[in-house]
Amino acid sequence: MQDENLVEVGNLWFKPIISEEVIKDKVNEMGILLGKELNGKNPILIGVLNGCFIFMADLVRAMNIPCEIAFLRMKSYEGTVSSGKMDVVLPPDISFEGRTVLLVEDIVDSGKTLAYLYDMLYEAKVLSVTSVALLYKPLAIKYPIQPDHHCFSITNEFVIGYGLDYNEQGRQLSHLYQLTEKPTI
Ligand code: IMP
Ligand code: MG
Repeated sequence: MQDENLVEVGNLWFKPIISEEVIKDKVNEMGILLGKELNGKNPILIGVLNGCFIFMADLVRAMNIPCEIAFLRMKSYEGTVSSGKMDVVLPPDISFEGRTVLLVEDIVDSGKTLAYLYDMLYEAKVLSVTSVALLYKPLAIKYPIQPDHHCFSITNEFVIGYGLDYNEQGRQLSHLYQLTEKPTI
């Protein structure tokens, strides 16, 4: 993709790295694969808000199998660096006991969120957990964990778009963008 399509979000500049069309094809392919893997198990898809909302919506339609949807919210990021702290908010009436869970993440960076959620779900006596991330930064991993499935593996640069934000901005962008230098005109 061309650098003239740079966008300014907050006070930073971003360049497109993965186009809407490429994302669409890959997410469809992933949905079909997970639909085959989880069909007949009435899985509960747990999306990690806010970043997963667009990925989850596209993925669940591509899976096209009977399933349930739930969301939880965690925040481990402020700005472009991890703040280290974790907050979790679950729906009040949810039970994971005996369930086949599909964890849906926008991006796995240090792996802290994923590791935390695996522990929480096994403590809640799930039957099984499968994880899928839109994006995976293998070079950023700091925990002994990785997503079972990911759509794209990327370098350590900060990314936005297709649900992912920089300080809550940029989620509406259809392509995925990566942090870049401010253009000199
Ligand atoms: P982890 O717990 O370090 O793996 O971080 C996971 C969370 O950090 C993701 O669910 C995102 O919300 C956020 N995050 C990590 N990297 C990025 C990024 O490049 N752009 C936007 N959010 C990110
Ligand atoms: Mg997230």
